[in-house]
Amino acid sequence: MTKPSIESAAPELMEPLDLNWVRAQFPSLSQRVNGRPAAFLDGPGGTQVPQRVIDAISDYLRSNNANTCGAYATSRNTDQMITGARSAMADFLGCDVDEIVFGPNMTTLTFAISRAIGRELGPGDEILLTHLDHDANISPWRALEERGVKIQFADIHEEDCTLDMEDLASKITSRTKVVAAGYASNAVGTINDVKTIVRLAHEVGAMAYVDAVHYAPHGPIDVRELDCDFLACSTYKFFGPHMGVLYGKREHLARLQPYKLRANTNAVPQRWEWGTLNHECIAGITACVDYLAELGRQHVAPDAVVRDGRVRAPASTRREMLQSAYGAIQAHERDLMKHMLPGLAEIPGLKLYGISDPPRLASRCPTFAVRIEGHTPLELATRLGERGIFTWDGNYYAINLTERLGVEQDGGFLRIGLVHYNTVEEVDRVLEALRT
Ligand SMILES: Cc1ncc(COP(=O)(O)O)c(C=O)c1O
Repeated sequence: MTKPSIESAAPELMEPLDLNWVRAQFPSLSQRVNGRPAAFLDGPGGTQVPQRVIDAISDYLRSNNANTCGAYATSRNTDQMITGARSAMADFLGCDVDEIVFGPNMTTLTFAISRAIGRELGPGDEILLTHLDHDANISPWRALEERGVKIQFADIHEEDCTLDMEDLASKITSRTKVVAAGYASNAVGTINDVKTIVRLAHEVGAMAYVDAVHYAPHGPIDVRELDCDFLACSTYKFFGPHMGVLYGKREHLARLQPYKLRANTNAVPQRWEWGTLNHECIAGITACVDYLAELGRQHVAPDAVVRDGRVRAPASTRREMLQSAYGAIQAHERDLMKHMLPGLAEIPGLKLYGISDPPRLASRCPTFAVRIEGHTPLELATRLGERGIFTWDGNYYAINLTERLGVEQDGGFLRIGLVHYNTVEEVDRVLEALRT
């Protein structure tokens, strides 16, 4: 029997996002600041967590707190819990369990991989990066300049902050050994054509490293479909604890040589995980993936069916439920964007950086970088903060981009970052506050 392909449920089979249910999962969303409800429009810096994540972390600490590989109950439970979290992330990314590496954050994991790849590189080799990326996908690769590796940069189209794919393609040559690019920009929200970037890299035998940190809360990830060699994300950006997760093709995780302790196992993937991991947070990772799966289960219409060999619904595996979750999340986020963009356009003196035309919403996340004449981003963020509206200001480490756009010396941007638990009312509140 052919396995049905796993795709998001068709839109007509999706229930609209039940925001009451969603928001009730996140205890922090009910906080108040200066007498007003807190509006968390700071998702790109880190999202809030559902109660089940908080419970999983404290349950682990209460009942199973131990180191790994011991010959007693709590240690064995810890081993099992970590295997369970690997399986959750394998479902999340669409890979096998032994291709999941845990680490403190995406930056640390990226340094681990860049150093290991760097051992094989030298003068004459090149690495291609982009001006759209977060510095965590730039500096770890630039560190290899000390080995004589040449770093190239793909440019952007300034008018809409999209990648200049022609420029990118022209800089991929037989000398290119790695192409490292973001799935989506944490500053301006652009979603990149990662599949094409991976293909272009592979055409010259280069490896493709994808930073999916900003994309993960907004869209489903399928590493097999992308065919990327590595993909990194951070669970604290998609409703989980402060941890990083790396997918690596098994062949690379087995062949590349990590800098590691002798006593550390050589088994894949553990040879990439050094020292003691943050077990309580790993327990929270399974809970965060299960939250999203539950959201998917709840948001597929009960009369949905399997048609044309495609799983429409009801989803049966966790990965299918995750796909359904992202169908509901994307529909809601598009509604928020449709509300936000015309509102921003009406604010005198406001300049939006990034894609603004409604037909192209599929190419952006609901992450808005703006500047308003006569006010610094810090001033705007501070005044919004006083009204209980949490946004961010500065470069958010997308420093190549703020430099490229000439706003670095003027305080960068004000960033309004929406995720699926945000509401139209919150969008109205921030628009009203910016207007005044
Ligand atoms: C797009 C992007 N990449 C990488 C990072 C770095 O992630 P981490 O904090 O897990 O190292 C961030 C953090 O903001 C990010 O937004």
